[in-house]
Amino acid sequence: MILSMSAVTKSYQTAEGCLSILQGIDLDILAGETVALTGESGSGKSTLLHLAGGLDIVDTGTIVAHGVNITRFGEAERAEYRRTQAGLIFQQYNLIPSLTVKANLHFHAQLADRYDASWSDSLSAGLGLQGLLDRYPDQLSGGQQQRVAIGRTLAARPPLVLADEPTGNLDEATGDAVLEIMVSLCKAAGSSLLMVTHSTRLAAKLDRTITLKSGRILS
Ligand SMILES: Nc1ncnc2c1ncn2[C@@H]1O[C@H](COP(=O)(O)OP(=O)(O)O)[C@@H](O)[C@H]1O
Ligand SMILES: [Mg+2]
Repeated sequence: MILSMSAVTKSYQTAEGCLSILQGIDLDILAGETVALTGESGSGKSTLLHLAGGLDIVDTGTIVAHGVNITRFGEAERAEYRRTQAGLIFQQYNLIPSLTVKANLHFHAQLADRYDASWSDSLSAGLGLQGLLDRYPDQLSGGQQQRVAIGRTLAARPPLVLADEPTGNLDEATGDAVLEIMVSLCKAAGSSLLMVTHSTRLAAKLDRTITLKSGRILS
């Protein structure tokens, strides 16, 4: 089991009071499994990903990742968890503008002490980035930047990849192509994938789909 969430709740304090978003999430993801997370806008998909990725902490409930209970991790432990266990891919590419494509690709893997030249080369090839390695992010199209963001995350071979509408900024054909590559590279890396998407068409390309509704998961 790569990720196991049990009875997880999360609410936000707002000016209008306490907003209860996740109301008892039970979710298990197996090693190598690819799972699509769907649900209406505002249903809590990003919130769930942030909890699974160690960006935020639960109100109640438990998250076990790779056999380790991360629920009560402090800041430093969560940062270490993000560096080595959970790879996050957002719709915003968050590339480092002052670094070349190649340096962006190596960055996380080096932080995680997992840089592997041959895996890095196969990622560049798989993502079609070989001719772009010496460019800077502002010299790339949106689709190319997203492929770099995916490569950067996968370079560290995280056991769990968490992707929040990763192809949401791309046109349909480009988005489909990027997703297909991302899924096949996750499989090659042995990474599990939990991906938020609005698209049932994209969701159908993964092993299974779960849906968030009223703070709970409908399977
Ligand atoms: N930091 C926050 N403070 C207050 N409310 C938040 C915060 N983050 C998200 N929300 C609210 O929580 C709900 C779920 O948000 P989110 O997880 O982003 O949903 P989704 O990704 O499914 O669209 C929304 O109503 C959103 O406005
Ligand atoms: Mg969201």
